[in-house]
Amino acid sequence: MGFILPPSRIVVKEVEMKQFHFIRSVVLVLCLLLVPAGGCAQEAKEFYTPASGQPGKDVVWVPTPQSLVDAMLDMAKVTPSDYVIDLGSGDGRLVIGAAKRGATALGIEYNPDMVELARRAAREEMVTKRATFEKADIFESDFSKATVLTLYLLPGLNLRLRPTILDMKPGTRIVSNSFGMADWQPDETRRVSEDGSSGQLTAHLWIVPAKVDGIWQLADGQISFIQSFQNITGTLTTMGENVELTGKLAGDRISFNAGGREYTGTVSGNTISGTHGGGGSWEAAR
Ligand SMILES: C[S@@+](CC[C@H](N)C(=O)[O-])C[C@H]1O[C@@H](n2cnc3c(N)ncnc32)[C@H](O)[C@@H]1O
Repeated sequence: MGFILPPSRIVVKEVEMKQFHFIRSVVLVLCLLLVPAGGCAQEAKEFYTPASGQPGKDVVWVPTPQSLVDAMLDMAKVTPSDYVIDLGSGDGRLVIGAAKRGATALGIEYNPDMVELARRAAREEMVTKRATFEKADIFESDFSKATVLTLYLLPGLNLRLRPTILDMKPGTRIVSNSFGMADWQPDETRRVSEDGSSGQLTAHLWIVPAKVDGIWQLADGQISFIQSFQNITGTLTTMGENVELTGKLAGDRISFNAGGREYTGTVSGNTISGTHGGGGSWEAAR
């Protein structure tokens, strides 16, 4: 059933409608005036767009293809307990990749625009708690706390970093896109293609070896290790008898063969303890 307003309410209603149209027009005019000055200008603001090959302080920016990012993080076996540092982090892809695996990750990058770009990418990927970026020179930065170091630099830069890397905690994993460490041979090399299958993109892995070079005392003799990065040679002397040894270090894990017997052990500062193929245990100190 219809609802008829008395004439006085009809007049009030017309006044309310006019007020409503007036307010709406004012709001529309204000929006048209304000939006181009603020909101629209904000939307139109250009984000920094890097170009592959653009100059950088010591090396140009070229991004690591995503398939190789994944391979590098796989090779380093990145887990949530890792602290990953990418030296020259570019648009942040390795740092963000590591953070997505639950690790804490830091990118050190000299170009401030790239740092901002990487921070924005971390926000978009919602990993800002674990992925951070610092505007700094890698050659003036302390990265000694990293458990995993990622690099895409140049052979000469890797070589400049090598002494610092070799002083990092034994077991630290270093992964490099393309470039080597001169005569420090990688512990593993992997080749993938852009789609992740076997191909031409190359990543190398090194595990920082414990330092064992020198003479170690045994209960019934001594061991003399000659160390070249992760490789060891030397002599085992027991009961006045010398046997040659050859072996490897993987972080603080040592393994060698002496006179046909296999020895394994763990290096902890100035002691090594482990077992040998004869079914017994051995201990060395220096
Ligand atoms: C080849 S790009 C690698 C970027 C990234 N790590 C990746 O794999 O996608 C090298 C990066 O190192 C940066 N860079 C060059 N010299 C640097 C220095 N001395 N300190 C910090 N960053 C540097 C460049 O700006 C560039 O972003």
